Amino acid sequence: MEFIKGKGEVKAEIIVNGAKKLQEYGFEGKDGDVLVLPEKKRVYVGVESINAENIKTATALIIKSLKKYKFESVEITPPNTKNEDILIAFFEGFILGDYEFDKYKSKKANHPIKKIAINSKRDFEEVINEAKIRANAVCFVRDIVNSMPDEITPAKLASIAEEVAKENKLECIIHDENYLYENGYYAFYSVAKASTNPARLIHLAYKPKNAKRKIVLIGKGLCYDSGGLSLKPSDFMVTMKSDKAGAVTVLGIIKAISELGLDIEVHAILGAAENMIGGNAYKPDDVLKAKNGKTIEVRNTDAEGRLVLADCLCYAQEEIKEFEEIYDFATLTGACMVGVGEYTCGVMGFDKEKIQKIINTGEKTGEHFAYLPFNKYLSKLLKSEIADISNIASSRYGGALTAGLFLSEFIEDKNKEKWTHLDIAGPAYVEKAWGFNPHGASGFGVDTFVSLLKSF
Ligand code: BES
Ligand code: ZN
Ligand code: ZN
Repeated sequence: MEFIKGKGEVKAEIIVNGAKKLQEYGFEGKDGDVLVLPEKKRVYVGVESINAENIKTATALIIKSLKKYKFESVEITPPNTKNEDILIAFFEGFILGDYEFDKYKSKKANHPIKKIAINSKRDFEEVINEAKIRANAVCFVRDIVNSMPDEITPAKLASIAEEVAKENKLECIIHDENYLYENGYYAFYSVAKASTNPARLIHLAYKPKNAKRKIVLIGKGLCYDSGGLSLKPSDFMVTMKSDKAGAVTVLGIIKAISELGLDIEVHAILGAAENMIGGNAYKPDDVLKAKNGKTIEVRNTDAEGRLVLADCLCYAQEEIKEFEEIYDFATLTGACMVGVGEYTCGVMGFDKEKIQKIINTGEKTGEHFAYLPFNKYLSKLLKSEIADISNIASSRYGGALTAGLFLSEFIEDKNKEKWTHLDIAGPAYVEKAWGFNPHGASGFGVDTFVSLLKSF
């Protein structure tokens, strides 16, 4: 798909607040309403107001609805605005809407629309370039997260990361399961040890000259989460290929940041493992020592992500000197989805301002974030009688927060305010299309973090 100037076979129009002339077709122009008039070579999509989410969804819907008609080009006028976020969203939507995951289908998806003709005197080259980098990174994340667990093992994820590093001149260190064991990352090591596909700790770094800031991104990369010995019921196990989404998101962000050439040093740490069963599986009742010396009583092997992340957080704080901010992305809890719904990421931490900035940035990219506040009563629920901390809370309420508080135990005091935790269990993977997202993996978080890092 390419963006050109001039004319196209079909004219597309984004209708803000409905249009009288279309009422005869029953087109009200509500958010997401689409009207295709193939004989007249017209397509209309409604938005109730102009914002990044609506515009991105509108252009995604134009592509989706025109794909059926085998048109090869479409002509459209971009919104008349100087707001760059809206314009980027406008161009991204076409690429995001054209995405289909057909890797395992014998009959491949059609991508009939080859040209998007932009009807404007303005030169959009820079905006288009950035929109392409962002949308391609999002689609890159979608492809990997959607791929089956037998294909994307921790070693495979490491080799994908190596490729990204090579293409974008990033530093790349890959540690294997022996490294984890020999260096005392027993929490991470133990989660992974029953799998025939051993763990990898993947560390990528983008180090531009004269970097203004140093940022660390950590991702939960459970290439499969069967629950381990605390085995998931069958219906809950399906979709757990998506438990690697945090790690892949972080990979997508560093890929986009380096392609955009932002002047910020970014480290991406991916904790890749499979949570499986077997004679040597870690067990409920085991006590594991994380790299920082804290002991963890395992009471449920399905709360594995926090164990992997605990050691990844330790690794980052030991190996990366003097960073300003540290973020972790994880499909961490079903409780987060119960709390805020499938379409929203739960954001936790000790620096409210930082969190507010993420929420605000999400509004500029069309991604939803909600602040979940810690409190001291919830912290107490993680008490263990036999170890420093338990890997699950003693109450069934507030599961997203108690998981976040568990992670906070592995953040050194001096870094407490630098840390933010993002629970993407809901939006990373939804089994139906929503907004500008397809069924399955969404690539959630990439766009907002590219904007956030760009704003520094
Ligand atoms: N990967 C899951 C969380 C999850 C659930 C992500 C559904 C996406 C969709 C995580 O490892 C898990 O199993 N968490 C448990 C924690 C519990 C045992 C305290 C959960 O949420 O039930
Ligand atoms: Zn789990
Ligand atoms: Zn998990």
